[in-house]
Amino acid sequence: MPSVAMAKSATDLNYRHVKPDDLDTIANLEAASYDPSEAASRENIAKRIEIAQSRPALFLVATAHTVVENCDMELGICTQEEIETVVAFVNATLTDSELVTDQSMDVHDDNGKTVAIHSVCVAPQYRGQGIAEKLLMNFLDGLRAANSGDAKCYKRAALLSRERLIKLYEKAGFTCIGKSQVVHGPEPWFDCTLDL
Ligand SMILES: CC(C)(COP(=O)(O)OP(=O)(O)OC[C@H]1O[C@@H](n2cnc3c(N)ncnc32)[C@H](O)[C@@H]1OP(=O)(O)O)[C@@H](O)C(=O)NCCC(=O)NCCS
Repeated sequence: MPSVAMAKSATDLNYRHVKPDDLDTIANLEAASYDPSEAASRENIAKRIEIAQSRPALFLVATAHTVVENCDMELGICTQEEIETVVAFVNATLTDSELVTDQSMDVHDDNGKTVAIHSVCVAPQYRGQGIAEKLLMNFLDGLRAANSGDAKCYKRAALLSRERLIKLYEKAGFTCIGKSQVVHGPEPWFDCTLDL
């Protein structure tokens, strides 16, 4: 029987840029985490992954590493295999608007200076351990690192938050500035921004 050691806490996770192979896992995580009216389609996620191949700071994933041990009892030999699983992600595209708008949710403007965050998502079994906060901090550090070259690529990050999640974004350094003009679903959205 294989024995399995699971990464259980935020400190066990690794952070890296998205890869095209992550599409299936990310599309499944998105579909399992958002109401169907809010979830990005697989096609849109594929587009965001493609954009991130030239702008890697715009799509970060957190991965857990699971060690699977396979033992052959007859030979008395055990081998270990490490499996990487994406358990959280944050993604964004660029806009020339200062806030997230209906248009910025659909169109990536490669000359835009505002990083419009579309999705912050943690797999259900990993929630409530500070992973979203840590993921956002790593994401923002990546944007700042991209800015440390000659040209300032990214002026600010912007997102829409439900009222109950404002505390999460404030903990990551965002300021929530009021109700958004974007109307989608029954509850209001709140504009949150952070200068980079
Ligand atoms: C929202 C979500 C990303 C939070 O992930 P998480 O790893 O559990 O969040 P964290 O553990 O880092 O939480 C950090 C802070 O955020 C707040 N928070 C997180 N989830 C919350 C929730 N469901 N309701 C209220 N506050 C919440 C808490 O203030 C928490 O601080 P505390 O531990 O001091 O109370 C996760 O529940 C998720 O993926 N949900 C589905 C997708 C979604 O709604 N994404 C956000 C909209 S874009």
